[in-house]
Amino acid sequence: MTQDELKKATAEAALERILPHLEEDMIIGIGTGSTANFFIDALAEHKAKFDGCVASSEASADRLKGHGIPVYDLNSVSSLRFYIDGADEANEHLHLIKGGGAALTREKIVAAVSEEFICIADGSKKVDVLGQFPLPVEVIPMARSYVARELVKLGGDPVYREGVLTDNGNVILDVWNMQITDAVATEDKINQIVGVVTNGLFAARAANVLLLGTEEGVETITV
Ligand code: 5RP
Repeated sequence: MTQDELKKATAEAALERILPHLEEDMIIGIGTGSTANFFIDALAEHKAKFDGCVASSEASADRLKGHGIPVYDLNSVSSLRFYIDGADEANEHLHLIKGGGAALTREKIVAAVSEEFICIADGSKKVDVLGQFPLPVEVIPMARSYVARELVKLGGDPVYREGVLTDNGNVILDVWNMQITDAVATEDKINQIVGVVTNGLFAARAANVLLLGTEEGVETITV
């Protein structure tokens, strides 16, 4: 199977998982990226069974609206039963690296509001130690050089993602060569640097379920 076929299979497994729980007034949190896009497309066929979605990016909001699915401002929603999103890396604790698509801050906010975070990913995303994928950090533009120097002090090699502005008008530093053995501590430490909006570690709020697409089928991992 291709990587896209594995992504589609895991998106369909997430849909099967939530279908029995859908209610007319339910609002669902939706992530960003190619795996989330497969989920949006599959969810669209069932749009009459729930109220609408909150999106973690303008791109996902546009895709949802394109399917005729209502998109709500998070400020008008007090809770979300599910959040479905992809990841760049996941470990056995369901700690994640996210932000390859630069949507990490909104993703983290929507995940925080959600009762259950279902992470959907192809098997290549499962790792023993997080950090082979460069850790995205969203930064206020004027703080970029200062934050980069502080990240070097923490042992990383930050690289400015040129030409990319987040939906919040900020920039991204991708931090290479981090061996992240304590994801909760690293997430917290990086977030303490002045000028950092947030980083792409999802450890304080990890996923609740990881649906991993493999050649043998979709594996369900919980902690
Ligand atoms: C976007 C993300 C995505 O979930 C992550 O990059 C995975 O993307 P894809 O599903 O395309 O592999 O965090 O900010």
